[in-house]
Amino acid sequence: MKILTVFKWKHILAILVGITTAGSVMAFSQDMSREAIAERIKPAAQVRIAGEEAMAGKQAQAGGERSGEQIYSQACIACHSTGVLGAPRKGNADDWAPRLAQGMDIVLEHSINGLNAMPPRGTCTKCSDEEILAAIEFMIE
Ligand code: HEC
Repeated sequence: MKILTVFKWKHILAILVGITTAGSVMAFSQDMSREAIAERIKPAAQVRIAGEEAMAGKQAQAGGERSGEQIYSQACIACHSTGVLGAPRKGNADDWAPRLAQGMDIVLEHSINGLNAMPPRGTCTKCSDEEILAAIEFMIE
């Protein structure tokens, strides 16, 4: 009788210990899953931010960089349409052939830094190197 009671108590104790252990394991796994959810959400949040940055970049580019035609009409047309001061005329292959024979790097360098009566960047001081190049490409088309 006494042995049985002891056994019973041990049994109850074991069950109790079992329940507490299970409880803390469950609490732990719940904690883990909360963290896991945060981890799983993170990439999506980061992708969204990256996407927004990419969009902003595209918009800046669209607004910031003008076409060769735009640059030409704004800054180069004054001299390069009629050949003022001996400027090579737009679309005139004879005017451009000896210039292009130097290589595009030299031609672009002259356009950026100036060459005799050709002012640096054709007076378009705010034009980027890429925009100057686009304007040259538009003129030699
Ligand atoms: C004030 C007049 C003037 C304006 C404005 C002007 N140019 Fe010129 N450009 C010249 C003249 C003159 C030359 C010939 C220079 C020489 O060979 O002595 C020339 C030459 C060039 C050349 C040939 C360079 C070489 O290496 O032979 C390029 C390319 C050029 N211009 C690009 C441009 C671009 C692009 C613009 C506009 C952003 C522009 N120019 C605006 C007068 C002008």
